[in-house]
Amino acid sequence: MPEGWVNVYDAQDQAERRLEPGPRGYFSGGAGDEVTMRENVAAWQGWRLRPRQLTGVEVSSTAATVLGGPVTAPVLVGPVAYQRLLDPAGELAMARAAAAFGTVMCLSTLATARPSEVAAAAPGGRRWFQLYPFSDAGVTRALMGEAVAAGFEAVVLTVDAPPGGNREADVREGFTIPAEIEIPSVSAAFGGSRTVTVGESFDLMTRALTWEDLGGIASEAGVPLIVKGLVTAEDATLAVEHGAAGVVVSNHGGRQLDRTIPTAEALPEMVEAVAGRAAVLIDGGIRRGVDIATALALGADAVLIGRPTAWGLAAAGAAGAERVLRILAAELELALALLGIASPADLGTEHVRSAPLTRVYSG
Ligand code: FNR
Ligand code: LAC
Repeated sequence: MPEGWVNVYDAQDQAERRLEPGPRGYFSGGAGDEVTMRENVAAWQGWRLRPRQLTGVEVSSTAATVLGGPVTAPVLVGPVAYQRLLDPAGELAMARAAAAFGTVMCLSTLATARPSEVAAAAPGGRRWFQLYPFSDAGVTRALMGEAVAAGFEAVVLTVDAPPGGNREADVREGFTIPAEIEIPSVSAAFGGSRTVTVGESFDLMTRALTWEDLGGIASEAGVPLIVKGLVTAEDATLAVEHGAAGVVVSNHGGRQLDRTIPTAEALPEMVEAVAGRAAVLIDGGIRRGVDIATALALGADAVLIGRPTAWGLAAAGAAGAERVLRILAAELELALALLGIASPADLGTEHVRSAPLTRVYSG
C-alpha cells in the first residue's frame, strides 16, 4: 500500500516485483553499462549542504512558481513513454496524480493516450507536451495542435534522442509494445496500431533538426519552448540564443549516451550559461528531498522526476504516483526547515559545497 511507503525506493521495490521482465527492464534500466544511470544518483550525493541555525523560520513551505504558474513543490512529473504498460489508466492516472498533488505533468510524444484525453482526465492540472518531431511533419503538427488546443502550456522538445540508446535489457527481453496498447502518435504515423519496439518508435522521428529549427517549432507551437536533454554550457547558451524559455539539464536518465556527465555535475555550468535568461530545470537520479534542495540551491528552478513516479504508478496506480510526489515534497520541506529557510526561493549557492569525489564514488 502506498501509504506504507517510507521513501521512493519502497515504490521501486513494489513496482519491480509487479512488472514483467520486459517492462521492468525498459522502465528501470539504462544504456550500456548503466554508468550514467548510476552516477546520476551518486552525483547528487557529491554535494554537501550548509545549514544555517537560529534563523527564526517557524514554517517552511515547498510552494513555488514554475514558468509563471504555481506548483505545490518545484517537483514536476517528467515525460515517460508508454504508461499503459504500468497501469491500465496509464497517462490518465499519472495526470490525475500530478493534478491532485499540484504540479505539472509532461506528456510524452510516445504516450498511450491522446493529449485531449489526458487533459479531460485532469482538467484542473497543469500540463506540458514533450515533443519528438516525426519525419512526417503533418503528424507532428496535428499532435502539437491537439496538445495546445487542450491547454498544454509549453512544448518540451527533447533533443538527446533519436536514436534510442543501447538498452541491453530491451534487447535481451525482446521488449515490444503490443498492438493492443495503442500509441496514438505512432498509429497516426503508421496509419493504424501495430506492435512496435522502442527502436521502431524512434525510427519515425526526424534526426535532421538543428538549432535553426527551434524558432520555427516555437512559433508553430505558439506556447513557450523548453529544450530537454542538454548537459553542456555551449548548448545551454545556444538554446537561449534561439529563443528557448527554458532548458532541462538532462541525460535522459542514463538511457541514451552512457558515460555522459551526470546532471548534478553539469548543473553549475548550465546555470552560469543561462544567466537568468530562461528557466533551468533538471532531471536524473533525483530520489531524495535533499537532492531537490541541492538542485535548487545550485540554481535550478525545478526538478523533473522520471522513474520514481513511474514506479509509483506501476505499484499502486494514481495513488502510488501521487504518494511518490508527496514523499519527495515532505522530504524537501523537512530539508528546508533544517537548512533554516522558509521557501525554495531562499535557497542559494551559499547552502551547498562539493564533497570530495573519493568519498562519493568509493561508497
Ligand atoms: C524516459 N524519458 C523520456 N524523456 C522524454 O523526453 N520522452 C520520453 O518519452 C521519455 N520516455 C522515458 C521512458 C522511461 C521508461 C524513462 C525511465 C525515461 C526520460 C525522462 O523524461 C527523464 O529524463 C529521466 O527519466 C530522468 O531520470 P530519472 O528521474 O528516471 O532518474
Ligand atoms: C525512452 C524514450 C521513449 O527513454 O524517450 O525510452
